[in-house]
Amino acid sequence: MEVVITGVAAELAADAIEALMRAQPSAVLGLATGSSPLSTYQELVRRHRAGTGPSYGEVRCFTLDEYVGLPVGHPETYRETIFRELTDDLGIDRDRVASPDAGDPQHAGSRYEAAIVAAGGVDLQVLGIGADGHLAFNEPGSSLASATRMKTLTDQTRRDNARFFGSVDEVPRHVLTQGLGTILRARHLLMIATGAGKAAAVAAAVEGPLSASCPASVLQLHPHATVLLDAEAASGL
Ligand code: GLP
Repeated sequence: MEVVITGVAAELAADAIEALMRAQPSAVLGLATGSSPLSTYQELVRRHRAGTGPSYGEVRCFTLDEYVGLPVGHPETYRETIFRELTDDLGIDRDRVASPDAGDPQHAGSRYEAAIVAAGGVDLQVLGIGADGHLAFNEPGSSLASATRMKTLTDQTRRDNARFFGSVDEVPRHVLTQGLGTILRARHLLMIATGAGKAAAVAAAVEGPLSASCPASVLQLHPHATVLLDAEAASGL
């Protein structure tokens, strides 16, 4: 695992994504939502608008997770979020962006796994980390080999995500998430964490034991994982 403590995490993450796109224009990107990757996405959009970015015409994208129970088109679905925060601004056709089908949660997992395989697998997966060490929506206790499936959120994660909704009661209880096994099959994992609130989770993920108690510790199993941290997020290392 490559751990980089830096004041320019967004720029480095954008560099890695752009380098992949230049080398492999039909690359498959795995896209996380949440605040952690936001400045990276803004940097990619800034460069695209400045005319210095790569072409995204052939890219395929898979979102990491999705809420179950929000109406189609709700602004806080992760599908709409990724359109708004990244792919629309990069000119990526919406048909090239896949997300787990929250309308059919029972079958969505196996279909999503099949779609990722059919696309040739994810080349680069962008990740954040939850304050409790969750990865995507794989909460503590998730099987390290899990596939895309429906999960129930912990109260802590619902409280953490309430800032995107009117109140915690509006945060859905159920989600679809790529599994830890799914994430591990991506060819490059790029995790971004900033702020002191992530320090304990980052320390457990990077230096703690490999354990379902800290789902992000699966990064230790991956042959090509990059962790970009600011000084605060690295302060527990
Ligand atoms: C959510 C998402 C994760 C994300 C995590 C951290 O629960 N499902 O993919 O990594 O929260 O979010 P943030 O980056 O906003 O701290």
